[in-house]
Amino acid sequence: MIVIKDLVKEYKKNDNIIRALNGVTITINLGEYISIMGPSGSGKTTLFNIIGGLDVADSGTVEIAGLKLNKLKMNDLAWFRCFHLGYIFQTFNLIPTLSALENVMLPSKLQGVVNLKAMDEATKLLEAVGLADRLDHLPGELSGGQQQRVAIARAFIGTPKIILADEPTGNLDQVSGKNIIDILHRLNREKNVTVITATHDEAMLEVSDRVMHLDDGEMTIS
Ligand SMILES: Nc1ncnc2c1ncn2[C@@H]1O[C@H](COP(=O)(O)OP(=O)(O)OP(=O)(O)O)[C@@H](O)[C@H]1O
Ligand SMILES: [Mg+2]
Repeated sequence: MIVIKDLVKEYKKNDNIIRALNGVTITINLGEYISIMGPSGSGKTTLFNIIGGLDVADSGTVEIAGLKLNKLKMNDLAWFRCFHLGYIFQTFNLIPTLSALENVMLPSKLQGVVNLKAMDEATKLLEAVGLADRLDHLPGELSGGQQQRVAIARAFIGTPKIILADEPTGNLDQVSGKNIIDILHRLNREKNVTVITATHDEAMLEVSDRVMHLDDGEMTIS
């Protein structure tokens, strides 16, 4: 379902070339929960950005549900991202002027879903992440763990095929982090959405179907 072949990505900075990905090849099945472990600088975010169509590789291919990302035109890629991918970042990236409910509804609005339907789905997702009583709160009025739960709800709206979560528990204490992992895992099972996380968090490994290790741009699978 996600077929990644021989990805190479280099960054050129002054006279230096940094090879962030050195021939990464992996296949991920629909509905899998994958954890990618790797030290700082090993290429995790680079890999996520390429899978998510936010950046392009120097060589190699990413194929999602039969679509080759590097063959899509800019416009088609933007629609693909909008309909099929959900992102969760380490720093929650919520819109500060929008309430929890409005933040979660935002992708639906971009998808052209009518307001009432979007509101209904967003409300249900916020209930599912335990924030039924925080719908009207702005991000600044929520704790870090609560903001990350809003980000999770937003990522799952419209039931994308894939959720990319780049160190989603990195900024949280252990209890809030475990809570986030449990929610991600439950939604992964209930909605059969593929979840790919980058993590340093051992608790994330317990719920994973497979753990992959990235080291200096090279992937090994355990
Ligand atoms: N835009 C860029 N220009 C130059 N070098 C970059 C750029 N982005 C990343 N790098 C380098 O590429 C390598 C991989 O970076 P990446 O952000 O993918 O690592 P990471 O595994 O996500 O690390 P962390 O766990 O700290 O988030 C690093 O050595 C980094 O310094
Ligand atoms: Mg990173």
